[in-house]
Amino acid sequence: MRAPTITIDGPGGTGKGTLALRMTRRTGWHLLDSGALYRVVAYQARRLGIALDAAVELATIAAALPLEFGGAEDRVQVWLEGQDLSDEIRREAIGDAASKVGALPAVRAALLARQREFLRPPGLVADGRDMGTVVFPAAELKIYLTASPEVRAERRYKQLKQKGIDVNLARLSEDISTRDRRDEQRDVSPLQPASDAIILDTTALDIATVEESVKALAQARGLV
Ligand code: C5P
Repeated sequence: MRAPTITIDGPGGTGKGTLALRMTRRTGWHLLDSGALYRVVAYQARRLGIALDAAVELATIAAALPLEFGGAEDRVQVWLEGQDLSDEIRREAIGDAASKVGALPAVRAALLARQREFLRPPGLVADGRDMGTVVFPAAELKIYLTASPEVRAERRYKQLKQKGIDVNLARLSEDISTRDRRDEQRDVSPLQPASDAIILDTTALDIATVEESVKALAQARGLV
């Protein structure tokens, strides 16, 4: 049985993660937070002292990660070998390292099949950078979120503060633009909207409004 898919792509701080969680709650479908996979590979690389450009070693780690995902009410939870990494992997240093390992074709290839395994009935909401372009090109509904760099930095700032992570707004802004550039300019699966994606600018929208728009699109396509 083919399960329907909604993909939600775009740069960081556009509200992808929150929208994806809300849509899974609304639909009862599975959730793939693909950024968490790249973040865990980066976390392991740092823990094991592996260079962030060591493609072969990192691809081996990516292919064999003994990862477990769980969905709490308001966030995605990630365990690695029994250790809860949910907050640890949200740190900016890990996000930055994730974007470096994500630029390696071998790592992306190793994670491809693992990501596709998430597609099971009754359906999947997949959040990331290349969900609609590479991982689930046949998705029934593809959303691409954007927002101004200032608003994205402020959202990230609030999110990290809420998690008790100490951050500096100016520094965060710089990190976000560096990461965007790296994600947009890499050779494999660069960050870009699929040709059939619907682009939503969330700069002036709250998450409830974004959710309503996406719900309406999903309904129009007979998905919910
Ligand atoms: O979405 P999140 O901030 O958790 O992603 C962290 C990093 O992982 C991104 O900056 C990006 O470089 C990489 N990533 C990716 N492809 C995805 C998801 C995340 O390259 N599908």
